[in-house]
This record gives sequence, structure tokens and C-alpha cells, in this order.
Amino acid sequence: MKKIIVAIDGHSSCGKSTMAKDLAKTIGYTYIDSGAMYRAVTLYCLENGLFTGDELDVENLQKEIKDIRISFVKNPETGRSDTYLNGRNVEREIRSMGVADKVSPVAAVGFVREEMVKQQQAMGLEKGIVMDGRDIGTIVFPDAELKIFVTAAPEIRAQRRLEELIAKGENASFEEVLHNLAKRDHIDSTRKDGPLKQAEDAVVLDNSDLTINEQNKKLLELFDTHSC
Ligand code: CDP
Repeated sequence: MKKIIVAIDGHSSCGKSTMAKDLAKTIGYTYIDSGAMYRAVTLYCLENGLFTGDELDVENLQKEIKDIRISFVKNPETGRSDTYLNGRNVEREIRSMGVADKVSPVAAVGFVREEMVKQQQAMGLEKGIVMDGRDIGTIVFPDAELKIFVTAAPEIRAQRRLEELIAKGENASFEEVLHNLAKRDHIDSTRKDGPLKQAEDAVVLDNSDLTINEQNKKLLELFDTHSC
């Protein structure tokens, strides 16, 4: 069967990555988390003094962007890909609230997006990938054979993200998480370059009331109808 590209876009914390990972595993495709790449650039900025409060030093980031190397390496213990920043495993750090709080302004910078999109397109040359993000079906792979736009009610998304953070031992309140999601959604949807937008030919999936099993079943049906 010929390989295709599956593009999954949607709001923060609506379960895109769980969905994308499960689907990729079932169909034997490679999963690529484009958000992890923006998170890794953000971690780089935080660690290299490119933030003063909320102020990003765009000028120096532009000088250094070419030195930021992001890769994914399979972790034999978990069977999943971990994100590496310049050769260092940063999978845990990039999921912190500190990074979540600063990632949307970094991801709104034009040259950051240009560089990430280039790297993402290179990863899709052979097809056989499931990539999730905000602009995958619109900018990165406008010709993707299957595009899914995922959404869920904000309170449900915040509760899911809160449970994820608590499970990792992070301290956060429901209000703090809800506020962070609303802020990121706003910046992501209104930015000039690669805004979060539903592609015209995307299938919309609201998973507010779906279990993970129901969601996976729907996805697999969609994959079957789009891959032949
Ligand atoms: O996990 P969650 O959906 O909350 O976020 P993520 O997918 O890890 O992405 C983190 C942030 O990166 C988003 O809030 C966006 O600002 C940015 N992003 C983007 O701009 N374009 C993408 N293709 C993926 C993520």
C-alpha cells in the first residue's frame, strides 16, 4: 500500500499527540511532534539568556537559530521518540509549565517558523509519517492525503493537561493551566505566520466526549478511507 502523510492540527491540549502517537503505532508510521520542536527552541532561549521576563531577544535568536539542532531519538525503554536539543535529551524539560508559558511567542517569530517548517518538510520526504501541530495541513504539508483538525472544550482540555502535569510531579492549578491554554490559543490563532487554522479539506474531530478507544477507532476508519 502506498504511504501517505497524516497531518493532525488543533488547539493546545486537545489530545492531538496521544491521537497521533497511537495512530502512528497502529499503522507502522513515524510520529513527529512538531510542537516539541518549538518547545525545544523555547528551552534554548530560556537557557541562553534570550528572555528578559517576557521579552524575547529576537535579534540574538536570529543569529543563533542555525546553531539550534533538534532531533528525535527512539528511547529503547519507552519505545517512544525523545526530543534532543543539540545532542541533549530534553524530553522532560520541554513539557514544563515554564516552557509552555513562553513557547507561543517564540513560535510566532517568522524566521523560527521558517527554519522549523524546513526541517519538518525534510522529515516528510519519504511519507509514512503522522505529524501533529498547528500548521501541518495548511503550511507544512498542504498536499497531505489525510488532514484532521482536532478540538475539544477548553475546560476539558485544561483538566486533561492538569492531570498530565500532576502525573509528572509538576505543581499547577486548574486556573493556571486554563489561562495558559487560552493565552496560547489566542497567540497561535492570531499570529501572522502559520496561524492555527483549519485547512479547508480537513476532517474536524471534536473529542470532548470521546474515549481514547473511540477516538482511535474513528482515526483508523479515516486512515483506511484515505490511504487507498
Ligand atoms: O501539547 P500542546 O498541544 O499544548 O502544545 P504543543 O503541540 O506541544 O505545541 C506547543 C506550542 O508550539 C503551541 O502552543 C504553539 O505555539 C507552537 N506550535 C506551533 O506554533 N506550530 C506547530 N506546528 C506546533 C506547535
